[in-house]
Amino acid sequence: MKIAIAADHGGFELKEALKQHYADLDLIDLGTYSADSVDYPDYAQKVARAILSEQADLGILICGTGIGISIAANRYKGIRAALLYSAEAARLAKAHNNANILVFGGRTMAVDDVINRIDTFMQTSYEGGRHQRRLNKLDIME
Ligand code: RB5
Repeated sequence: MKIAIAADHGGFELKEALKQHYADLDLIDLGTYSADSVDYPDYAQKVARAILSEQADLGILICGTGIGISIAANRYKGIRAALLYSAEAARLAKAHNNANILVFGGRTMAVDDVINRIDTFMQTSYEGGRHQRRLNKLDIME
């Protein structure tokens, strides 16, 4: 599984920590590559495009709070970016929402919690059924 990861300056440190922890996974780092100030919509766009073009199967996005970069990513039709504030949210983001981008706050979340949430998401299966009917509705919203 290919995972595209990107962050703004508020998420840079957490991105680097995740890259180190998940060194065995196929991670594509789409930036930012330093702690210098950048704009989070640019990084949301890079990961959203990687998912929509099928260059990656899953995305991870990080900004200071995770909020701005979630808002930006969810503007792309077909993107389901979930801000994972707990392990239970991570489980449900897969089981019910089949999220394709996981979002975290570099200034609001601890690295160990984020790793636990990513692992929980990856160990969970999408339930389909009534949830698919709801996901179908997302892609026809104006
Ligand atoms: C950047 O300072 C900060 O606003 C950004 O990382 C994010 O938290 C926005 O939602």
